[in-house]
Amino acid sequence: MDSTTNSKAGAGVTKPNTLTITDNRTGKLYELPIENGTIKAIDLRQIKTDPEDFGMMTYDPAFMNTASCKSNITFIDGDKGILRYRGYPIEQLAERCSYLEVAYLIIKGELPNKVQLEEWARNITYHTYVHENIKKFMDGFHHDAHPMGMFVSTVAALSTFYPSAKHFDNPEERAATIHRLISKVPTLAAFAYRHSIGMPFVYPDNDLSYAANFLSMMFKVAEVKYEPNPILAKALDVLFILHADHEQNCSANAMRGIGSSRVDPYSAMAGAAAALYGPLHGGANEEVLRMLDVIGSKDKIPAFIKDVKDGKGKLMGFGHRIYKNYDPRASIIKKLADQVFEVTGRNPKLDIALELERIALQDDYFVKRKLYPNVDFYSGLIYQAMKFPVDMFPVLFAIGRTSGWLAQWQEMLLDPEQKIARPRQVFLGHGQREVPMLSKR
Ligand code: CMC
Repeated sequence: MDSTTNSKAGAGVTKPNTLTITDNRTGKLYELPIENGTIKAIDLRQIKTDPEDFGMMTYDPAFMNTASCKSNITFIDGDKGILRYRGYPIEQLAERCSYLEVAYLIIKGELPNKVQLEEWARNITYHTYVHENIKKFMDGFHHDAHPMGMFVSTVAALSTFYPSAKHFDNPEERAATIHRLISKVPTLAAFAYRHSIGMPFVYPDNDLSYAANFLSMMFKVAEVKYEPNPILAKALDVLFILHADHEQNCSANAMRGIGSSRVDPYSAMAGAAAALYGPLHGGANEEVLRMLDVIGSKDKIPAFIKDVKDGKGKLMGFGHRIYKNYDPRASIIKKLADQVFEVTGRNPKLDIALELERIALQDDYFVKRKLYPNVDFYSGLIYQAMKFPVDMFPVLFAIGRTSGWLAQWQEMLLDPEQKIARPRQVFLGHGQREVPMLSKR
């Protein structure tokens, strides 16, 4: 441990790039190295009141101020509203790239050239089909099962079809799993939807782009070939790009945490998708639409805002742990919505959403807390205009996020500093006590 201890505060010469801590319990001085603006929590362990003392820990519920890893994938400046994947601004990626190019970038670190992209797209296309037994598995769900529950379960079930995926230390096996997961998630998502409406499953059409094929599996009825509107297919592709990664969010942390036990990646990703399902994370897009339905009309907005301020619920799609400014993804989605509505017709709930945003952004409660629209505030309006049912929204988020989960998982595996994730606790429960017999309780 590269740190020094002095018995009196102020003694010795302090090194630059260090943090000096005085333990007022003992008067001892500790000098801890600072690297990348952080100190290592384990360096605090030397701070003890006596040799029997376990040593100092940090207490950080919900990881409010703890970096759990070093990462090269996604950069966010929450105050400035900046989001970059591998250094590229999200705005440029959304405008100039396809989702498959971005997935390649996130996972491999660089944008593909033409040859690399063709090979990557071929590999993804090659794996879009799922084992026929997955259909039987899907059929076992009740007709009104939430598609996210079906999605989470079938992702987990894939691990039983690909037992060799646990040999992920082999780069070829890891690459095969990455191709399989990115290519199969739209198939699983569409199958879940078709099951819920009692329609036959539609097999992948590998002539179509990633997003267009997904729309075909969702909405094809009797046509020989389903050709989605190119503007809608492009809009969905952009939405996948915007959702692809978001550094150490709840589900990425779940992917890394579960994967750190060295379980197979399908099981880890099922856990990540389950984390995404929650209404504070990827389930928020679904909640936004339900909230807009409850509000119903613009004149009810002031009363709704008052209820939120009185603690009777949240303004869903607002606020973010990291962004204390407009979420750059929400700005892109707002513009995208205009293009989509030109094709589909305007979603009447847009007016309520715009007014809600206008009022909230002028209200002291939201201004003081720096609560701005996040990615989920407007995305649902587009999904709904494209005819996706509300409970499919978190599944759409999961399709795009799959590449991010895999990139985070791979980075964790290849990082020599990572080990099984295992936080500490501050135990405040009983000391040892005697178990009374049942008759005495
Ligand atoms: N509506 C009303 N008040 C809010 C909201 C909201 N949407 N979000 C935060 N606040 C208040 C919160 O009550 C707290 O107030 P006070 O200081 O008086 O106690 C203050 O703002 C700080 O909030 P917090 O809960 O400490 O912030 P957090 O970083 O723990 O939570 C969040 C972040 C996203 C979970 C939260 O803002 C939230 O619940 N938003 C609504 C759900 C949502 O839209 N989630 C999607 C997030 S973006 C997609 C993704 O997951 O990547």
